Amino acid sequence: MNVLYFKSKEDGSIKGAELIIEGIKQNKNLVLGLATGSTPEQMYNYITSNYKNKDVSFKDVKTFNLDEYVGLKNEDENQSYRYFMDKNLFNHIDINKENINFPINFSETNLKPDYSYYDELIAKAGGIDIQILGIGNNGHIAFNEPGSKIGSKTRLIDLAESTIQANSRFFKDINDVPKKAVSMGIDTIIKAKKIILLAFGDSKKEALTKLIYAKSYDENWPCTALWNHKDLTIITDIEF
Ligand code: GLP
Repeated sequence: MNVLYFKSKEDGSIKGAELIIEGIKQNKNLVLGLATGSTPEQMYNYITSNYKNKDVSFKDVKTFNLDEYVGLKNEDENQSYRYFMDKNLFNHIDINKENINFPINFSETNLKPDYSYYDELIAKAGGIDIQILGIGNNGHIAFNEPGSKIGSKTRLIDLAESTIQANSRFFKDINDVPKKAVSMGIDTIIKAKKIILLAFGDSKKEALTKLIYAKSYDENWPCTALWNHKDLTIITDIEF
């Protein structure tokens, strides 16, 4: 585990963007796992401003997003993670839209418990080369809430009350926050060859501390699944 400290979110976001750009320069067919949320937003903005200088091409890059809400109200479709990614990254780069993958379309109503087809799709693409991750205040990664099994695959998830609370900041009313999502599983995430986890601000300190000092997987803190990953870089403005 490599913990990189930056004095600001901006500096950390630039580093994250540089690692992604570097990865694509080394491998134009990079398979990239992507995260949403307020944490990676600046990093994506930095990538798109670089792209304007034609520094890197996403033409042959494949992306797999970590998760997506289900059960959004029609007027809240701009809260979908697909919308977030289009707005912050995909609409500004030369990615082939057919290379963009989400575990589910946010408007899907016919839900199943198991979405492990997504894990197979990732494996068929050769596995994820670089996975970008944020972290929830309760230690969730993607939407793997406390209680998630180490071997879990992509599946339908009931969001924890604390996650609904945390994500209500993006909605008019807390009752509009979806209660379910489809998320890559813990097993899917830890199979990524390289993981870059971004964590900024004091609200992430407890979860990050659990990960940094973990000696085994603790289901109460899903982020601890990364404790012995072979190539984990943590980018943070929290001092340890
Ligand atoms: C969300 C997402 C996660 C994200 C986390 C933190 O609910 N499902 O992928 O990492 O919670 O979000 P934020 O970056 O906005 O703090």
